[in-house]
Amino acid sequence: MNGREASRNIVVVGFMGTGKSTVSRLLSEHLGWDSKDTDEEIVKAAGKAIPRIFEEDGESAFRDWESRVLQGVLSRERQVVATGGGAVLREGNREEMLRRGWVVALTADKASLLRRVTGAEAGARPLLAGDAEERITALLESRRHAYDFANATVDTSDRTPAEVAEAVVRGLP
Ligand code: S3P
Repeated sequence: MNGREASRNIVVVGFMGTGKSTVSRLLSEHLGWDSKDTDEEIVKAAGKAIPRIFEEDGESAFRDWESRVLQGVLSRERQVVATGGGAVLREGNREEMLRRGWVVALTADKASLLRRVTGAEAGARPLLAGDAEERITALLESRRHAYDFANATVDTSDRTPAEVAEAVVRGLP
C-alpha cells in the first residue's frame, strides 16, 4: 500500500494567503478525492459569513465552530481538506489532523502574503482588518511555530498553485 492509500485525508494548513484553498482543489482533482474547505463548512453551519461570526459572536465562538467542523470533516476519508489559518491553534485540532490525515503546511514570504490578501477578497478576513501589513507582521510573529507540526512543508512564494500542488504530490509518503 502506498502512502496515498495509507493516509486517510490530506490536510492543508498554513497562514492566510498561502493558497490553501486553490492548492487543495487542484490536489483533489489530481487524486480524485473530495475537496473540503473548513471555512466554507463553518459558513454553512453557522448560517453567516466569517466576518459576521467574529463581529457578533467573537473569535472564540468562531474557533469553537472551527473545531466542530474540522472534527466532522475528518471523520470521513479520501478528502483534501483546506483549513483556516488559525485551525492549528488548538492542540486538539492539531492532534486530530495528524491522526486522521497527512498534514502539509504551505508557507510564503510576507510580501507574497500581503499581495495575495489585499486582492479581491480584502475584507473577508477579520483578523487583517485595518492595516493588513501590521496585522500580518504581528500574526506571523505570534504563529511563528504554529505550523511546524505538519508532516511536510512547501514554500509557495515563487510558485503557481499548480506548481505547489505538484510539489505536494512529490512529497506524499
Ligand atoms: C483565520 C484564517 C481565515 C479564517 C478566519 C481566521 C486565521 O482562513 O478561518 O478569518 O485565524 O488565520 P484563511 O486562512 O483561509 O484565510
